[in-house]
Amino acid sequence: MKTYLSPSILSADFAHLGEDIRLAEEAGTQYLHYDVMDGMFVPSISFGMPVLASVRKITKLVLDVHLMIVEPERYIEEFAKCGADIITVHYEACKDLEKAIEMIRNVGCKVGVSIKPKTPISVLDNVLDKVDMILLMTVEPGFGGQAYIPESTQKIQDMRKALKERGLEKDIQVDGGIKKNNLKMVLDAGANVIVAGSAIFAGDIGKNVEEFLAIMNE
Ligand code: DX5
Ligand code: ZN
Repeated sequence: MKTYLSPSILSADFAHLGEDIRLAEEAGTQYLHYDVMDGMFVPSISFGMPVLASVRKITKLVLDVHLMIVEPERYIEEFAKCGADIITVHYEACKDLEKAIEMIRNVGCKVGVSIKPKTPISVLDNVLDKVDMILLMTVEPGFGGQAYIPESTQKIQDMRKALKERGLEKDIQVDGGIKKNNLKMVLDAGANVIVAGSAIFAGDIGKNVEEFLAIMNE
């Protein structure tokens, strides 16, 4: 399966966000991961629509918007207007997941659904054929820089198996604690869209992207 890197700008330096994004783009990343937090679904608050609109103006990267907000249905249209290409909502946060999926389709974005580490993959059984991407959280959502939860590897394998059994070829995205040293493991388990925040934006951004891509293209 084709693989994609999605650096999470949550770990970028917001005082020069445009420059950080340019470095990641020039080094060959395909996506950019955009974490929206509301201080309700997760403890922290990050950024929202205006920053996305500014980012949209300076990059052609696929904008992969991860909504960690209560009732994301309320904001799907707004994020699409501001330039999202993919919108991912949490199973745990939606009032009506199927309706949220339909709303994302109607605004012309690709559809992602996400579950937190403790949520079983079976809750997504009814929607697997309706989405483009399943985002498996590999840390508790809310903060960058946490350690990968080891049990996630089995979950990735189970999800890939469940998709295969249904004859579905969907993207599996992993998010949280992904570093160069566990990247191959999550790819082998069946993930093909890789989010990485601190591992990309700490230090030499261009070099980090290149090293990630080299492992992903092995
Ligand atoms: C966490 C966010 C992640 C975060 C990942 O809730 O969804 O996208 O930026 O950061 P790292 O890669 O540092 O774990
Ligand atoms: Zn995220």
